[in-house]
Amino acid sequence: MKISKVVVIGSGTMGSGIAAQVANAGLQVHLLDLTKEIATKACERIKNSRPPLLMEENNLNTIIPGSIENDLEVLKDADWVVEAVVERIDVKKTLYSKIDTLRKKSAIVSSNTSSIPLKVLTQDMSNEMKKVFCITHFFNPVRYMRLLELVIGSQNDKEKINDLVIFGDKILGKTVVVCNDSPGFLGNRVGVYTMQVAMTEAFNLGLSVEEADAVFGRPLGIPKTGIFGLYDLIGIDLMADVLKSFIKELPLTDPFHEVGKELPIIKKLIEDGYTGRKGKGGFFRVNKSAGLKILESLNYKNHTYNESKKVDLQLPDVMNINKVLEREDIYGQYAWLIIKKAILYASNLVPNITENFNDIDDAMKCGFNWSKGPFEILNDIGIKNFISRLNKDEKIPPFIKQLIDKKKSLFKVSHNSLEYFHPKHTYVSMQRPQGVISLSDIKKSSRPIYTNSSASIWEVRGKSRFICVEFHTKANALDGLTNDCLSKAYDLCSEKYDGIVLANDAMQFSAGVNLNYFYENAVNKKFNDIDVFLNNFQQSLYRLQHAKFPVVSCPSGLAIGGGYEVVSQTSFVAAHSNSVLGLVESLVGLIPAGGGCKEMLRRWSNDSEIKNNPKLLSLKVFNLIGYATTSDSPLKAKTQKFLLEQDKMVMSRDRLIEEADNIIFVKRENYIPIKTASFSLPGQTVMSEMEDILNELKDKKIIGEHGLEVGKKLGYMLSGAETSSSEILTEQNLYDLEREIFIDLIKQKPTQERIRHTLDTGKPLFN
Ligand code: NAI
Repeated sequence: MKISKVVVIGSGTMGSGIAAQVANAGLQVHLLDLTKEIATKACERIKNSRPPLLMEENNLNTIIPGSIENDLEVLKDADWVVEAVVERIDVKKTLYSKIDTLRKKSAIVSSNTSSIPLKVLTQDMSNEMKKVFCITHFFNPVRYMRLLELVIGSQNDKEKINDLVIFGDKILGKTVVVCNDSPGFLGNRVGVYTMQVAMTEAFNLGLSVEEADAVFGRPLGIPKTGIFGLYDLIGIDLMADVLKSFIKELPLTDPFHEVGKELPIIKKLIEDGYTGRKGKGGFFRVNKSAGLKILESLNYKNHTYNESKKVDLQLPDVMNINKVLEREDIYGQYAWLIIKKAILYASNLVPNITENFNDIDDAMKCGFNWSKGPFEILNDIGIKNFISRLNKDEKIPPFIKQLIDKKKSLFKVSHNSLEYFHPKHTYVSMQRPQGVISLSDIKKSSRPIYTNSSASIWEVRGKSRFICVEFHTKANALDGLTNDCLSKAYDLCSEKYDGIVLANDAMQFSAGVNLNYFYENAVNKKFNDIDVFLNNFQQSLYRLQHAKFPVVSCPSGLAIGGGYEVVSQTSFVAAHSNSVLGLVESLVGLIPAGGGCKEMLRRWSNDSEIKNNPKLLSLKVFNLIGYATTSDSPLKAKTQKFLLEQDKMVMSRDRLIEEADNIIFVKRENYIPIKTASFSLPGQTVMSEMEDILNELKDKKIIGEHGLEVGKKLGYMLSGAETSSSEILTEQNLYDLEREIFIDLIKQKPTQERIRHTLDTGKPLFN
């Protein structure tokens, strides 16, 4: 069955998010609420949402607002009806009986409930509707959170559920995990439990909120919001409701009860209106009283707020659980308590709640943005090691006992493919949706063919035989070693592969070149080293762009600055629908010097309006790079030529490498390498127009003295310096010019200060 018409009922946070994602998938969707006004307001909210729920503003045109009272007729030809109204069983049930009288018999109906069991929702439902009714549990914000839990029961029509799984995966771009009907399903059950453990143990050990978030963050492969930042983000009051429902639903023997009770600190925060970011603040707040915005944190011991100070606990930059667990101090102890309890809790859910432990891993990775799931973490720690660290009186879950007794590991490789331990069948092969190529699975079942501390190369056999370059630094920042890896990949591919794919499993494809590297060398006046680094970076990207085999980059998350320069100099791009692309160097007082300027000039020189007008060409690119423009979806990226028409947008993060494989498969035969470009630029004749733009910005106080200087240098670069439109410049000429101006700028104190500020605060300094 093809799902082409969708009705979403309930236009609050979740309903509007689901409707927006359906619209992003190119489908028409009716969004109904108590009144049409409420649904119309929801459309306004969708339009103004930040980060945007829509991939393109026009997508809003396919969302049709309406009311339950007047527009329920639209149900008659809907293929999928999803209910996302308030979490009240009476309201939901009244709605279901109306839906049952109007629905198309073949339509799928689902609820987005987060806590009401399927068996309760379906209590008074007709048997016919029960067959097509399930829970589709999306996460907030729907566009950005990858997990879709599909909760089903034995009464369901299996074929219908399968249709919905495929729709959720391929059309909505979600990682679909099919779950049984149990409280909190998989993601929230383990995720909320772990959050509560992280909070309780922080209180028990007396850690400050900053200390706790520093440990329960990147070093453990958890988003940097940590625990207290996450509590504020979700909403302290919403979390309290979630906890109540778990307490109500879970048997008294469940360890959730040890950590799920409302704590006096939380009660007081809610009573005082400190419900998190949406309220007056929470564990953190922004104090604007002195005319300045000062971030403060809660000292929960005496309930006062003080200026929040960054803590340096000498923890690893990137996920390295074993390193944290080695520590014998209070931070190592804190990390162990959380990791231990999360693993024990998750293990106790196997096999009763799920027989497939890797579904719990997927739920945690896609629903809570963990880098690894609890079982992958257990695998890294080692089962023996894990057990040896437990207290004597700690009960080992039957699933882990089974592994120990049978001397089995969690994962095994058989005939080159990955298998995982199954409590009933010993080992079963890792099931991924048809076509999906998972880098995470490849990493468990093979060894890299080249690796250094910043990047690795993996061999992949899909339809074609290619190699995948994976960056793995903090935010995937680029450095000399990532560059070595790119060069190595080029050499390897020239010898025996069909192509190269640049992809990784991290949140960000790459946030750019490591600014620390530039800063350290700049303050130590090692400008020649910077020049050599940039030259190597340019040359390795040049080789990739003009290689005699296809090179496909797969951006997802941020691909900005140097990260975008990598993407822009590959022959093809398969971009995830949520990727953010752009050149942001001007924010730190620099210009792109890894080929970014050259590449934008090349791209815009083919534009029909600009084709024969070198002045317009330089001005267009000057505006794009000068304003540090980024695009937050591939659709927008095409209008700015950060992506080209041939580049592909992929809805599902899981299907990026599959798409790259398809591209290589189609292109490898008779592949024609990209020709070297040549440029005709206006030279100094365009500088006065650029200076007018800059002076106006300065008059409006948008840029300061140094911004003006950076703008002029950028203009000088993009106009081709001392050239004229009759002269032909090569790619190498532009690379040289990029480096020359970059070095010129990085020698300047204000640029160094701006880089320092960004390194310290994560934010740009405008001047
Ligand atoms: P919300 O409060 O933002 O929106 C609820 C919507 O229901 C409102 O637009 C309201 O006008 C409408 N409504 C109220 N009474 C109604 C009635 N009698 N008939 C029809 N519509 C009515 O709620 P939210 O957060 O969007 O939650 C919706 C559902 O999604 C709930 O079942 C919730 O448990 C679930 N959920 C929520 C998540 C979240 O993070 N907010 C995450 C996952 C699931």
